[in-house]
Order: sequence, then structure tokens, then C-alpha cells
Amino acid sequence: MDIKRLVRKNILELKPYTSARDLYSNGILLDANENSIGSTFSKIEELKLNRYPDPHQNDLKDLINSRLKISKDNLFFGVGSDEIIDLLIRIFCEPKIDKIMIPEPTYGMYRVSADVNDIPAVSVLLDDDFQINADQISKNFTEEIKIIFLCSPNNPTGNLLNKSDVLDLCKKYDSIIVIDEAYIDFAESGSLIDEVKNYPNLIVMRTFSKAWGLAGARLGYCVANEEIIKLLFKVKAPYNINTLTRFVLREALKNEQLKNSCIKTIVKEREKLKVELAKFTDILKIFDSQANFLLIKCSDAKNVLQKLAAKEIIIRDRSDQPKLEGCLRISVGTEKQNKNLLDALKEIMK
Ligand SMILES: Cc1ncc(COP(=O)(O)O)c(C=O)c1O
Repeated sequence: MDIKRLVRKNILELKPYTSARDLYSNGILLDANENSIGSTFSKIEELKLNRYPDPHQNDLKDLINSRLKISKDNLFFGVGSDEIIDLLIRIFCEPKIDKIMIPEPTYGMYRVSADVNDIPAVSVLLDDDFQINADQISKNFTEEIKIIFLCSPNNPTGNLLNKSDVLDLCKKYDSIIVIDEAYIDFAESGSLIDEVKNYPNLIVMRTFSKAWGLAGARLGYCVANEEIIKLLFKVKAPYNINTLTRFVLREALKNEQLKNSCIKTIVKEREKLKVELAKFTDILKIFDSQANFLLIKCSDAKNVLQKLAAKEIIIRDRSDQPKLEGCLRISVGTEKQNKNLLDALKEIMK
């Protein structure tokens, strides 16, 4: 498959900015107009915050490539996966001409990023089990569609997409297929990372915002074909990932056991919460979830949402999304938070 054919002409021809740290990072560094005396933040001196970070992200790549068994050439880090979504749209979609396709209901940022870039988003529906509807995609696919955004486990429905359906799309369409695995750590299996080597148009996106508990650090990554990774490096801001975030990742990775125990607790709490929610007659359905949230369908969703908010328990209204009439999304909390939620629901729904 010829990836270049999918890339915007101006990006192919782009002469990227060469930053000072592209060339040298050691020696007497008088090349980047930094403050050579030091930093006003000196608490963690080893950070050398007066210096720009490595634009090639080698330190970050070294931290995770062996864990993932992925070559460094297949890795790119973004300021959250949200930055990667935006960069991909900017690389592949010519404003006002090209399009993206979004099987819905799903995560809202794919459409927002498309809108910001003046790219029409073609919406198709997932099927009644929130799986890929190949017929719908086939009927609506046109040559202008350069990226199909998929999410597995899907936000807000919580289900994993069938692997074989995703791979069928990779085979069938001359288009980039992005699979957003933000919640994959909460699922028993189902990652497509190992398939990247087999499909040059497949991009797997991950984030440290969920299971690793680093939403505030803003760090995501994607695994993709080398050619796509080179394009991402070409268009990103020179120093997109800041030194503090790099430090945080290095330290957080030492706490893998804590991450694993968080996952275990959240999955256990999710299943407990599911059983308890099923006892409310006003909750018509609780969808199976492989993520750290549950989607529920209520007879009077807006009322539940407002009354919970009045008790300072905040959940998310998803009832305006296609196929999600009356649906609310609840992030799994701590045991105590979940108990507070259930107690509040008992009062609201009595
Ligand atoms: C499916 C999905 N992808 C990506 C993100 C954003 O991740 P990040 O914090 O890495 O930008 C979210 C955040 O809620 C999400 O639900």
C-alpha cells in the first residue's frame, strides 16, 4: 500500500523546521538562545529545565519500546492522544476536500479535530452491539475519506471491537485506519499493536491518561508504520513533549505494580457497580464494559443527571449521541465513591 498517496501534497513537500537540539545536545551549547546560567525552577536540578528537550523523543522511546516489543522507529509521542488525532488529520486530510469517517457513537474529539481543520466527518453507525457495520462503511466510503477513526474499547459504549472486523477494514480500504486503545489496559485482551507490522495503514493509539493515572501530564503515543511515524515527526512542534512530562513518565514506569493494582481494583469495582445498578428498575440497561466506565440507559436520564449533580456527583450525559437515547456514562470510582453514587441513586429513584 502506498502511504504517500494518502498524504497531503504540502506535507510531502514540507521542509521541516530544524531545531537546535536536532543536531547537538552535548557540549557548550550556545545554539538555542536558552538561559545558559540555569533555570528559575531548580528544585529538581537534574531536569535541566533551561534546556530544550530531545526533539527525537529518544528518551521516551527508550522507556517503552522494549516493554511493547516495538522498534523505536514505530513509535511517536504526542501531548495526549488528542494531539496525535489532530496531527494525523493535518497530515492526511486536505481541508475542504478530504474527509474522515467515524463509526458512531464514539469519542467526540475525532469530529472536533476534523471540524477545527475544516475536514468533513462522515458519520456511519455502529451496529446494535456497537460493532463495526461493514455494510454501512462500504455504502458510505468514498475516495476522499483518508482516515477511519475507531475506538476499542469504545468510548462511551465500553465494548471492544472485533479484531477481525478492524483488520478487514485495513485490507479493504486504501485509507488510514486509526484504532484508539485509550482504555485497552482495562480489557482482558484485544490490542491490535502486534498487527501494525502486518498492515502499513494501521495506527494504534494509546495514552497514559487512564490506567497509568497521568491525565494531567498529557502524554499519549501511537504505534505505526515507519513512514507514518516519520510524517508525524515532520509536522509536530519541535519540542512537543516537555521535560517535566518526560520526568513523570520515567518515575511512573517504576510503579507498574501500582498501575496493575489500580486496573484490578477498577475492574472489580466496575463489575460490582454493574450488579448493584442492575437492581434499579429505572435503569433499563447496563452495557457490558471492558473499560473504566459503565454506560447505562435510564428511563429519565436528564433528571438523574441533574439530581446527581445537585448532590455533587457528576456523571456524563451521552444521550445526545446516535443510538444512545437515555444513556449516561459513569466512570468507575473508588469503593467509597461508588457507594455514594449508589446511595444517591437510591434517593433519586425511590
Ligand atoms: C477514546 C479516547 N481517546 C483519547 C482520549 C484522550 O486521551 P489523552 O488524554 O491522551 O489526550 C480520551 C479521553 O477521554 C478517550 O476517551
